[in-house]
Amino acid sequence: MYLQRRNRILRQSPAIRAMVAETALTANDLIVPLFIDEGKGVEFEIPSMPGTFRRSIDGTVKEVKELWGLGLKSVLLFIKCKDELKDNTGKEAWNPDGLMQRSIRAIKEAVPEMVVMTDVALDPYSSFGHDGIVEQGEIVNDPTVDALVKMSLSHVRAGADWVAPSDMMDGRIGAIRKAFEAANHTRTGIMAYSAKYASCFYGPFRDALDSAPGFGDKKTYQMDYANRKEAVKEALMDVAEGADIVMVKPALPYLDIIREVKNAVDVPVSAYNISGEYAMIKAAARMGWIDENKAILETLTSIKRAGADLIATYFAKDAVKLLSHF
Ligand code: PBG
Repeated sequence: MYLQRRNRILRQSPAIRAMVAETALTANDLIVPLFIDEGKGVEFEIPSMPGTFRRSIDGTVKEVKELWGLGLKSVLLFIKCKDELKDNTGKEAWNPDGLMQRSIRAIKEAVPEMVVMTDVALDPYSSFGHDGIVEQGEIVNDPTVDALVKMSLSHVRAGADWVAPSDMMDGRIGAIRKAFEAANHTRTGIMAYSAKYASCFYGPFRDALDSAPGFGDKKTYQMDYANRKEAVKEALMDVAEGADIVMVKPALPYLDIIREVKNAVDVPVSAYNISGEYAMIKAAARMGWIDENKAILETLTSIKRAGADLIATYFAKDAVKLLSHF
């Protein structure tokens, strides 16, 4: 048989495949989400997220040192707020001595070079489990934005390098940027959860922080999964308002959105490989139905191939270990 072109030439050995690979995953691409709790010596494995822990500050600091040693460069912090501190204003979110603020200080003191990003949304602090303030059953936009601004400023005062607003209120990126400028916080980054969809795949995360909505759902602020153009609108608006990085979330069921946003913006794009995506791989691997390590690398590479410059993932530590073996 005579063939002018044989495509398999480029696939015939591990060496040539590595040479022509279009996408390479590295430790630089990964953001590590961390769940933090009050107490000392606390290390609680989240039942729906095996291998992921909620730790007190002491254990978190130890973990961050290890992550830095593995070449990982950023962490994204989430805290579990005590029930008695939750209310409808979310005011614990900007307590200068709150768990988040103490965590930021401890991490920056222990590993100053680590890029510390913080989740900005009211849900862990809300007695209703919603990302904003509730009035007559409605999640009200503008009062929530005022609260998010206070929350962001308090994170930066505690030493956060980046804030990551995950609430999907309108106008919050512009309001936060304006407040940073007014307070001369000119080095602080904003990673906007720009296209965040109302997804059932957040379930395990809400278990981890005990932050499930007490009534209704998040569909009046998070996006409808039927929509694609709307993601571009959200991302472009956030860039115009001052976002340094825009995020698409979840990642795996939204690879088309990642590509669409990547093509539309001139800032780095991140994607969040969320709790439900993690849980599915863990569950199938435990059943012996898929090879976990292979699934991790294939999944993360696919998210990067789709257009994500950065990936927040609970698999970060596993992934860097696997990459170093290749
Ligand atoms: C809260 C928040 C959520 C996640 C990150 N920030 C959950 C939600 O919006 O209900 C989800 C992360 C994950 O599932 O891994 N604003």
